[in-house]
Amino acid sequence: MSKLPIAVIGAGLIGKTHIDCALADPDIELVGIADPTPAAAELARAIGVPCFADYPSLLATAKPRGVVVATPNATHARITIDCLEQGAAVLVEKPIADTLDDGRRICDASRATGLPVLVGHQRRHNTIMRKARAIVGAGTLGRPVSATVLCTWLKPRDYFDVAWRRQQGGGPILINLIHDIDLMRFLYGEIESVQAQSSNAVRGFDVEDTAAVVLRFRNGALGTVTVSDATVAPWNWDLSTGEAARFPRQDINAHFYSGTEGSLTLPRLEVWRYRQDQGPAQGWHDPLTMERTAVHTGSPYSEQMRHFAALIEGKEQAVCSALDGLRTLEATLAVTQAAATNTAVALPA
Ligand SMILES: NC(=O)c1ccc[n+]([C@@H]2O[C@H](COP(=O)([O-])OP(=O)(O)OC[C@H]3O[C@@H](n4cnc5c(N)ncnc54)[C@H](O)[C@@H]3O)[C@@H](O)[C@H]2O)c1
Repeated sequence: MSKLPIAVIGAGLIGKTHIDCALADPDIELVGIADPTPAAAELARAIGVPCFADYPSLLATAKPRGVVVATPNATHARITIDCLEQGAAVLVEKPIADTLDDGRRICDASRATGLPVLVGHQRRHNTIMRKARAIVGAGTLGRPVSATVLCTWLKPRDYFDVAWRRQQGGGPILINLIHDIDLMRFLYGEIESVQAQSSNAVRGFDVEDTAAVVLRFRNGALGTVTVSDATVAPWNWDLSTGEAARFPRQDINAHFYSGTEGSLTLPRLEVWRYRQDQGPAQGWHDPLTMERTAVHTGSPYSEQMRHFAALIEGKEQAVCSALDGLRTLEATLAVTQAAATNTAVALPA
């Protein structure tokens, strides 16, 4: 069977991860890279893959059936729509775009061309999240009531040497919190209102370094998230899962989901309930039990690439469609708006 031709546009930090995943997948052939930098040309030479300085040449020459778009946020819409119009399905990195209008244009182009778009919220492909979704979906928690999520850690001083990271849009809300909001939506469904406060008190840059968020879900549950990149703290998804090797793993929880029948912690996948052999749930004087599930872990980026190929072949439905990516972006942008206006923002916008 012939391999599926895939290309990568943007061979920077995350583009290299996608390139490695495509090279490692036995059912995929990496047919080209587009990126104007000398570093990208060097990388392409090293792995023996054609490199193009501009992506229209890549599309015309290499004729990929799927393209990974791993370029800066503001370029996502233009490049994704061009790829779709040239007949290639797209895996676009998160956020789907940097504005809702651009995100909607991607949804429209996917519909018009009949080609799928997968948004790169790779955490959805983590086996921990898949198990968590199965636990919540099976009704183990009963009726979802609350979600408490922490996303706190310290970005090093030199991270801010790059100007855009000190400006609005370059901070932990759009870069990091968007992943946690996406996971909360993955487990609890749509968000219908957002309240938030943000602060730049530690670093004093234009961009926030901290935010506290309250979410109301359509299913009636309430969620809170604290995000800060200015604290010495381990409580966040990256450090607690070790999902990417560049983060040293801590064996702790960062997400806590509670319902009328039980609770779930992540990433340790602990389910807390009253003893099932002693009748219906009683109350806080009765002993709780905890059952922890261990799952096989693998790279969510590799699994995302496998899923992208299956999506192109029409064998699977998108785990994070363009519309899903748009809804996550909408909720995340609402955090910034709610904090700036000190009002609750209703969704969808
Ligand atoms: N899912 C994740 O875990 C994750 C992690 C990091 C970044 N991201 C996302 O990935 C995207 C890229 O981030 P990054 O950190 O890799 O950025 P980066 O700056 O390291 O890399 C971007 C690359 O795109 C290239 N590029 C820019 N415009 C281009 C164009 N028109 N055609 C071809 N190449 C072009 C640049 O030369 C650069 O090499 C962003 O949207 C970011 O939000 C996702």
